[in-house]
Amino acid sequence: MFKPISLVVLGLFSSAVAQLNTLAQAAGKKYFGTATDNPELSNTSYVAQLRNTADFHQLTPANSMKWDATEPSRGIFTFQGGDQIVALAESNRQLIRGHNCVWHNQLPDWVTSGSFDNATLLSIVENHCVSWDVINEPFNDDGTFRESVFFSTTGTSYITTALRAARAADSQAKLYINDFNIEGRGPKSTAMAQLVKQLQADRVPIDGIGIQGHLIVGEVPPTFAQNLQDLAGLGVEVAITELDIRMTLPATPELLAQQKADYETVIAACKAVDGCVGVTLWDWTGKFSWVPGAFAGEGAACPWDENFVRKPAFQGIVNGWVF
Ligand code: XIL
Repeated sequence: MFKPISLVVLGLFSSAVAQLNTLAQAAGKKYFGTATDNPELSNTSYVAQLRNTADFHQLTPANSMKWDATEPSRGIFTFQGGDQIVALAESNRQLIRGHNCVWHNQLPDWVTSGSFDNATLLSIVENHCVSWDVINEPFNDDGTFRESVFFSTTGTSYITTALRAARAADSQAKLYINDFNIEGRGPKSTAMAQLVKQLQADRVPIDGIGIQGHLIVGEVPPTFAQNLQDLAGLGVEVAITELDIRMTLPATPELLAQQKADYETVIAACKAVDGCVGVTLWDWTGKFSWVPGAFAGEGAACPWDENFVRKPAFQGIVNGWVF
């Protein structure tokens, strides 16, 4: 007697927990990863899972490589926090996503309030950019450029300067522009595509587009997969860099089931698009998610709950990679 196939499949999944990076790499991706933050590293149960390379082959420091952490005073660089996460990743053979070089948030006052002229601010940007998620959130939702201190002083020159400086500092790092609300087709995604085309025409180094992926349960844009393909079609890498899918609390079985389906949709889209190189969670456990602090009344956005127990969303990710 042979076993019906469904029983074999069930047996497979119940005897061994499928693992997120193993499955991502089996689907041809470079990595599945997660954000993490320095204060979390004193929690030994947390770190044990963070080091589990079968799930996570890539780490993003959630805060300790931002401008306020790395250049708190002009020309004075402090890399201790970022280095701690790099050292952890290296000891574990995990990849690192440098996050981020130029962003309008978490800037020290000396940058925001320095009233620098164009040339001086460009030299400050040039001096600051050593690698990575080089430009973070340059657009407004309508596709116009965000009026940060950088744009209002230099126009788009700061983008060019930052990318060139990052390439000069590190010829190996993949240089990305990263933003949110570019998950589906729309004016902001079109603006990102236009910017990348312009940079390519101007021979400015640009290797990838980061799609943050801070999503809401039940609201994954229906054009998510096509949009990923559109952006990859520009000849750059795309990556989902900050994935979490939040809900209005309390979590119910229905919301958790929808969240599982939403994680599966996102992962399946990355799987289907060759140019999508990997997916990074914006931390893996509700215990350390940024969501409750940023969106009042919302949370439960990660695939593990605050007690480090896998939620249905975990199986959604597995399904996305497998099916
Ligand atoms: C968030 C961090 O997770 C928080 O700890 C911090 O207080 C604010 O920033 N988009 C980004 C990330 O690119 O840098 C943000 O990270 C989340 C939104």
